[in-house]
Amino acid sequence: MDNIGLLVTNDEELGEVKEAALVIEDGVVAAVERAGAQGDERIDAAGRCVIPGFVDSHTHLVFAGDRGDEFAARMAGAPYAAGGIRITTEATRAASDEELLALAGARRDEARRAGITHLEIKSGYGLDVETERRLCEVVAQLTDDVTFLGAHVVPAEYEGRTDDYVELVCGEMLAACAPQARWIDVFCETGAFDADQSTAVLHAGAVAGLGLRVHGNQLGHGPGVQLAVELGAASVDHCTYLSGDDIAVLAASDTVATFLPATDFSTRQPYPDARRAIDAGVNVAIATNCNPGSSYTTSMAFCIALAVRDMHMTAEEALRAATLGGARALRRTDIGHLAPGARADAVILDAPSYAHLVYRPGVPLVAQTITEAR
Ligand code: NIG
Repeated sequence: MDNIGLLVTNDEELGEVKEAALVIEDGVVAAVERAGAQGDERIDAAGRCVIPGFVDSHTHLVFAGDRGDEFAARMAGAPYAAGGIRITTEATRAASDEELLALAGARRDEARRAGITHLEIKSGYGLDVETERRLCEVVAQLTDDVTFLGAHVVPAEYEGRTDDYVELVCGEMLAACAPQARWIDVFCETGAFDADQSTAVLHAGAVAGLGLRVHGNQLGHGPGVQLAVELGAASVDHCTYLSGDDIAVLAASDTVATFLPATDFSTRQPYPDARRAIDAGVNVAIATNCNPGSSYTTSMAFCIALAVRDMHMTAEEALRAATLGGARALRRTDIGHLAPGARADAVILDAPSYAHLVYRPGVPLVAQTITEAR
C-alpha cells in the first residue's frame, strides 16, 4: 500500500510515519518504507491516514431477537438490568444454527466495514448445555477467539438455584463447550454471579485449559476487578466503577482493563475514570461490547470518540487502546500493530489523521478495510 500520508504502526520504534508505504506479502507486513515503494499490486492510499485494524476484544455477536423496546424504555427512564439477557436467551434457543450463523456473520461483516479486523465473540445467550455448545460452534466459524460465557446470568428455569446452575456450567456445559473455546468468562455482578460463584467458574475453566476473562464492576463497585487480577485473567471488562484499590491492583498486574464506553452511553451510566487508571499505569483496551441489550453497535470509531470526549483519553491513547490494547487483552502479538511480521490488517481512513475519528463523530470515515482474516 503506497502513498500513505500518515501511517500509524503502533510499533515502539516506528510509531507514526509520514509519507509511508506498507509492503505486504502473503497477508503479513513485510516492511514499512518511504512512499514510492515497488510491488506487484498497489493500493493507493491517496495521502490519507492508515491505522492498524481495530481489535474488538469484547463482543456478544451471536444472538437472535431484538430488544429495541427495552432500549426505548430505558431512554424514557427505566434502569438497565441484567435480566434482559433472558429475553435474548428465549429467542436464541429457538433459532437454528444456520439462522444464528447468518445473523452473526452479518454483524461481523458490518464490523469489518467499520474497520474491525479481529473480533472476540462470546456465547452466553444459550444458558443450557445444548444451546451453549451450538453457540460456541457457530462462533468458532467466525473467529479463533471464542469465549464460553455460560455464566452470563442464571436462566429462568434455575431461578433461586444459582449454585445448581454454577455446578452445571462448571461440569456438563463446560465439557461441551471447551473443545471450541479459547476463553471462559463470567458476569461477576449483583444480579448475576457473586465472588465465590465466579471463582468456581473461572477455576473450572482454567482446569479445562481455558484463559480467563471477567465482566466486572459494570453496575456498581464489586469484587470483579480484584478477582480477575488474583486469578490472572487476561482482561477485566467494563470497569465503570473503579476504586483507588482496584486501580492500584490493576496497575501492578498483567490484567488489561477493557473499557466499553458505548455500554455506559446506552445504559446512561457514568463513564469510567480512564484518565486516573492510565496515569496510574493500568494497561487499557477499548471494545464495542456489541450485544442486543446494553450496547448494540459495531462502531469502534464511536467508542473512541466517547473515550476521548467523556473519559478524557487522548486520541492517540484511544486509538492504541482500540488496536494494540485489544490485542493485549486477547494476549496476542500478531495483531493490533503494523510492524514487520504482524498480520497486515489495516484501515484506510478518509481523513488526514486518526484524530478525525473524534473530530468528526458519527461520520463513516473508514474508506477501506484490508485483511485476509476469515
Ligand atoms: O456486557 N454484562 C453482561 N452482558 C452484556 C449485556 C448483555 C445484555 O444485556 O444482553 C454486557 O453489557
